[in-house]
Amino acid sequence: MCGIVGYAGNKDTISVLLHGLEKLEYRGYDSAGIAYLENGEIKVSKCKGRLINLQEKLADRHTENIGTGIGHTRWATHGEPNDINSHPHLSKNNQFCIVHNGIIENYISLRDNLIREGYHFESNTDSEVITHLLHFNYNGEMIETILKTINQLEGSYALAIICKDHDDKVFCVRKESPLIVGSGTGENFIASDIPAILKYTREIFIMEDNEIAIIDKDNITFFNSFGSSISKNEVLVTWDEKASEKGGFEHFMLKEIHEEPESIRKTINPRIKNNHIVLEGITLEKPKKIAIVACGTAYHAGVVGKYLIEKLLRIPVEVDIASEFRYREPIIDEDTLTIIISQSGETIDTLFALRKAREKGSRILSIVNVVGSSIARESDDVLYTWAGPEIAVASTKAYSTQLSAIYLITLMMYEGKDKELLISQLKDIPDQISKVIKDMSAIQKASSLLFGSKSIFFIGRGLDYALSMEGSLKLKEISYIHSEAYAGGELKHGTIALIEEGTPVICSLTQHDLIDKMISNIREVKARGAYVMVITQESHCEQVKEVADMIVMIPEVNPVFSPVIAVVPMQLFAYFCSVEKGNDVDKPRNLAKSVTVE
Ligand code: F6R
Repeated sequence: MCGIVGYAGNKDTISVLLHGLEKLEYRGYDSAGIAYLENGEIKVSKCKGRLINLQEKLADRHTENIGTGIGHTRWATHGEPNDINSHPHLSKNNQFCIVHNGIIENYISLRDNLIREGYHFESNTDSEVITHLLHFNYNGEMIETILKTINQLEGSYALAIICKDHDDKVFCVRKESPLIVGSGTGENFIASDIPAILKYTREIFIMEDNEIAIIDKDNITFFNSFGSSISKNEVLVTWDEKASEKGGFEHFMLKEIHEEPESIRKTINPRIKNNHIVLEGITLEKPKKIAIVACGTAYHAGVVGKYLIEKLLRIPVEVDIASEFRYREPIIDEDTLTIIISQSGETIDTLFALRKAREKGSRILSIVNVVGSSIARESDDVLYTWAGPEIAVASTKAYSTQLSAIYLITLMMYEGKDKELLISQLKDIPDQISKVIKDMSAIQKASSLLFGSKSIFFIGRGLDYALSMEGSLKLKEISYIHSEAYAGGELKHGTIALIEEGTPVICSLTQHDLIDKMISNIREVKARGAYVMVITQESHCEQVKEVADMIVMIPEVNPVFSPVIAVVPMQLFAYFCSVEKGNDVDKPRNLAKSVTVE
């Protein structure tokens, strides 16, 4: 979602800001803009559409004497994506200029009050109210002004602010939207996320809610919500810029699929010692109940978790979409372990679901990829997935490492006789995935045949059904092909009416005990004319041959581990369909990587 950068230093400010925005493109956006102080005046340049439009607009801009600036990629919430609604927003007399990520819930009443005070609004955004409010509250003292302003705001925000009277400084503050400060030599930075500043520094500070930071080229100062100066600990980023580059692949998504074996190794290997699972600082006793809460792909990992945990641990598991969990009355208490899953650790619905579970007395164990993110910081225990930066909007290696983390948690508590066998099988998974990636020809062929379809169904039973949900989401989000995932046995209760001559149905068939049932379900759709592609293992091939139009083979593995392997051909299928259609694979329309608004 919206991306923010801020810079104070001697480099060419416009270039630094544009570079930062480029690195935040993955978050999803529909317009971009920057503002900078030049000879004591704030200059703004912004426009709708891709960053390239802004880059072209600024191509011949002279950048001497520019030392501070802010930039923004906007993902529209209030007001359509157009030049005027793009950020930055200027205040009266061009005195203040802000960029904002989040939603100001009380902006209508604030706007009405400001209009009564003589302020004029240009845009339809909720954000513009902030810049006018800063102007209205300004008494020459920036910290006081910012504190007074944020005390009037309801909602979420990460804000970067520049002011004409302080032309060497950038100010920032956050509540529920991510923000970091980067410390350089003779230059300092502000950003929504690490890749934006990784070219310049790996030393960062993570902003907490309602903390204010002021940067100039030589200093960074922090203040708490009472306006008192505070000190904060620096964090050293362990990955370098290369990790957030394409490395020879055509798209980040393809690169990230190829990184799955290594990401899983990094997630599981250090936690398996002498065939025992040791999770750093986490001691788990079987709880009475488990609640898993997440959004999107992370939710789908949670659904796999439910099947797995109930099967192996015999603990009841409820799995919820975070935005639903927040507003229903979940029955959880101190005997429930809540597992929160999030790649970014900043998804606002998931963060609020975490807080709700905590209010009810539940212990929180989170599975998170981004170190130091809000969800990680607010959890009792964190099991990090070491997937590295995931840039493509469509999540791939994050999902497989989330599944790996769920396997670790489950097997740690598992007491069955085959525990050690399962742990050693878990260690083999990266090699099995490498085999799938090595030969993508069948899946490429399937995509070239099916990318023109209007609608594609995914079916499966048990863990295969859980997995199919993810396969279907991947296809929808990057190929824009309508798709639904159905439990094999549920089709005939309605959806089968949509199957007609040639409708593609992708069937995951890896659960030994459910093969016969699934074969019957395939026959049902075949009888209505479906074109059936089956993802399965050698051992089921004979049976499958009779009913499938196309077979994609995956290595033979214990069925409990098949989701993490069988998802790879599904990810690749979505990827190749998107490429065939000429879509923007890494930045699909309307989507954002880190969903920091409700
Ligand atoms: C889909 C995708 C999203 C995210 C969801 C949750 O490919 O990436 O569905 O999984 O927005 O995001 P995180 O995991 O960051 O909480």
